[in-house]
Order: sequence, then structure tokens, then C-alpha cells
Amino acid sequence: MLSIHTIKALEKNLKSLPKETCLGLVPTMGALHEGHASLFKKAVEENDHVVVSIFVNPTQFNNNSDLEKYPKTLDADIKLIHSISPNILIFTPTTSEIYSSAVESNNYDFNGLDKVMEGEFRDNHFNGVGTIVEALFTIIKPRKAYFGEKDFQQLCIIQKLTEIQKLGVKIIGCPIVRESNGLAMSSRNERLSPEVRQQAGFIYQSMLTAKHKFGTESVLKTKEWITTEFKNNPNFELEYFEITDIDTLTPIKERIKETKYRAFIAVFADDVRLIDNIALN
Ligand code: PAF
Repeated sequence: MLSIHTIKALEKNLKSLPKETCLGLVPTMGALHEGHASLFKKAVEENDHVVVSIFVNPTQFNNNSDLEKYPKTLDADIKLIHSISPNILIFTPTTSEIYSSAVESNNYDFNGLDKVMEGEFRDNHFNGVGTIVEALFTIIKPRKAYFGEKDFQQLCIIQKLTEIQKLGVKIIGCPIVRESNGLAMSSRNERLSPEVRQQAGFIYQSMLTAKHKFGTESVLKTKEWITTEFKNNPNFELEYFEITDIDTLTPIKERIKETKYRAFIAVFADDVRLIDNIALN
């Protein structure tokens, strides 16, 4: 069995597991890479049984062409998952299996976490993410679920979702995996030309310098520096660079002692939108 397409077949399979099985889930949209592989490895280490879902969720795309262009590499995905463990169960539902009546998202109150950065530039994106993650948790009932820190804002919102909807799943964030030049691994990197992909190490290098500057200079100065760096590099267009505290994700103007901060960036390269983030202290 390579993958399971229906909820019924998945439930049947999960029911056959011993009662106390610790079940881990890694939700994905496919087009898998080493970043995903690190989540699968961790999930396999920490659970008796692991489900990986592959589903390109339409309600989290605010742009149809982005949805259409999303890479689909199912055969290679299955190979990669099974190279980590042949026992991982792969769930590949169709859209009608997940959205039986209408392809619409629920409306959640994420206490403002969804109003900044990605939420500001991608209308309704996080309601779509919340809808699919809640659906998968309800169908699969995992004890733990694994998400990458590359989508740090998504990770915070999923923690919140689990809390407000009382889903009873332990959310585990996993470190960003980077290409050799520092570019954060992403399924979208495949859409970059080889030259731009190589040059895109510039994004992480800028973040590292910003982190260094944040140690001694003001928030404003750090942001101005990044803006100028990107203005001087025609290959990359800066959409936003924000410094936020890690609990509320509210962009700050001034730093307060004893508070943990993170920097977030979104950049266009070759018409491909890339995001990244870094802990500042
Ligand atoms: O990060 C992703 O790939 C997606 O947003 C997720 C969490 C699988 C939901 O579709």
C-alpha cells in the first residue's frame, strides 16, 4: 500500500493499531525536501506510528495561480517518506474528501497573531491553514504533530488553534533546514532559476547581519539597513522585514529588556515569494 486516499480507509487502518499507540502526524502539501525529511525523522523517533498527510489545501491560497503552480511530485514524495521509514502511513485525500460540502475555511479568532506579516499580505491564509489542520487532527487524532519553524507564524497560530479548539495535540516545532548557501529549504525553491537560487543565500546573510546589528543598534536602524540592502540588490524585492516579540508576533519599534525577539522576512525572487525568520536573542 503506497498511500491511502479516503478517510474511511485511514480510520480503518488506524483502528487496527494497539490502543496505547503514540501516533505522530506530519501534515504537508507535498513537494517534499530535506526540511520535511527532518520532521519525518523526528516524528519516527518520538512516536510508535507516524502518519504523513499530503494535501495541497485550496483554502489557504489567496491566489489561484499560486495554487495552480504548486509543485506536485507524489512519486518522489512517497520514495522520500519510505526512505525514512517504510512504516509511515501516507494519507493523500482529495479535495472533496476533506471539504465534503463547500471548499471554504472556518473563521478563527487567533488573537491578532494572524493579522500581521503573512496575514497582512495573504488574505484569509491562516483561516485556511487552521481549517485543514483542525480537519486532519479530528480525522487522525494524533498525540503529537510536527511543523517547521520556517513558517514560524504558522507554528504559533497552530499552537493557538490547538488551545482555542481544545484539540489535545502536542505541537512540536522543528528547526529550519537550510541549503548550503543558507537559503531556507522550501518547495518553492524549485521554481527559482539555478543562478537566483544560488544568489538567494543573500536573504539569510542579510538576516544574520541584521541579527548582529540588532545587538547594538535600534530597531529602526536595523530595519533601515535591511531596506537599503534590498534596494541595492535588483534580484530581490523586499515585501516586509519585521522584528516582533515571539509571543504576540507584534512588530516592535523599540526593544524591552528580558523580551525574546525574532526577525521575519518575505522577499520576491524570480516572481517566487520566499520567507524566512531568525531568532534575535
Ligand atoms: O506548511 C504547510 O505545508 C501547510 O501550511 C500545512 C501546515 C501542511 C497545512 O496545509
